[in-house]
Amino acid sequence: METVLSGIRATGRLHFGNFLGAVQNFVKFQQPGNTCLYFIADWHTLTTLDDPEELRGNLVEIVKDYIAAGLDPEQSIIYAQSSVPEISELCLYLSMIQPLGELERVPTFKDLVRKNPDNVNLGLVTYPVLMAADILGPKATLVPVGEDQVPNVEMARNIAGKFNKRFGNTFVVPEMMAQMIKVPGLDGAKMGKSEADNAIDINAPIEAIRERYLKKGITDRERLRVTDPGDPYNRCQSVYPVHELVTDGEIETREIANLCISAQIGCAACKHRLVDGIAKILEPFQERRARLANQNEYVKDVLHEGGKKARTRIKETTEQVRDRVGIVIY
Ligand code: TRP
Ligand code: SF4
Repeated sequence: METVLSGIRATGRLHFGNFLGAVQNFVKFQQPGNTCLYFIADWHTLTTLDDPEELRGNLVEIVKDYIAAGLDPEQSIIYAQSSVPEISELCLYLSMIQPLGELERVPTFKDLVRKNPDNVNLGLVTYPVLMAADILGPKATLVPVGEDQVPNVEMARNIAGKFNKRFGNTFVVPEMMAQMIKVPGLDGAKMGKSEADNAIDINAPIEAIRERYLKKGITDRERLRVTDPGDPYNRCQSVYPVHELVTDGEIETREIANLCISAQIGCAACKHRLVDGIAKILEPFQERRARLANQNEYVKDVLHEGGKKARTRIKETTEQVRDRVGIVIY
């Protein structure tokens, strides 16, 4: 019996790393007894994006990807953060108990300041407080996130604890779940994170994905000839680690490693096997996704209904919080 919550910013389209590392995990939580809330953090997106058309487009496309990947609007609450204005009100209350100094030391903040020294807006500073409002509003018990988000979730836990201590038990202190898998991109760095063009587009034709792996996938740099033994575990950058995530069963994965170590398979052949594995996962997804391509009205309905459901939960918390801090709506 968990209340699972996770959000994603709408800065771009989903890639295969998000798909394997996050979305497939979200799907697994959809079980009787669990309440799942998956939302698009469109306000958080505004901290670094200033193209309104892109934001609007990304949001709808991500929801299509979510649904095609198996998130079921009947089972999960799928919504846009901005559909729940109470989240920003909660953020305001929480900001009153959050020291500024801690926010300036958050790694994701320092990272963003380094990347955009000319755009250190207040939204970036309060980013984790808004995130805390996202999490605490629906009283999430479990928050699956990538490793980079761990300090933010930790801060939400702290804020909840602090508020409860000062104003009486109000918030649930959620469990963190940082076991989401890291998927390397073509250059071996985390997919989507490196400045290089290292991501695999989940909506690209399989043959285009194959091309990209064959041309750009970094393998074992010390393996110069097919007859050189490779080191799949330590030196293969972009292929073997993905085999471990997508290839059916441990036996086949181990077989690939052994073929590599004993120089019985070339990297090109190994990449072909990988892409065949990726195709098995992506083909059914792409079929469902294609059917959603023109369903913007349906997606809007999903977001509208999801927004209503999320809002009901979050409103309840907001009313409690107002009461605790002494705000009366006249
Ligand atoms: N900051 C998260 C990211 O960039 C997105 C996010 C916003 C989020 N609010 C959240 C994640 C609440 C989990 C819970 O990936
Ligand atoms: Fe990597 Fe496969 Fe090449 Fe070995 S054979 S280095 S596992 S791509």
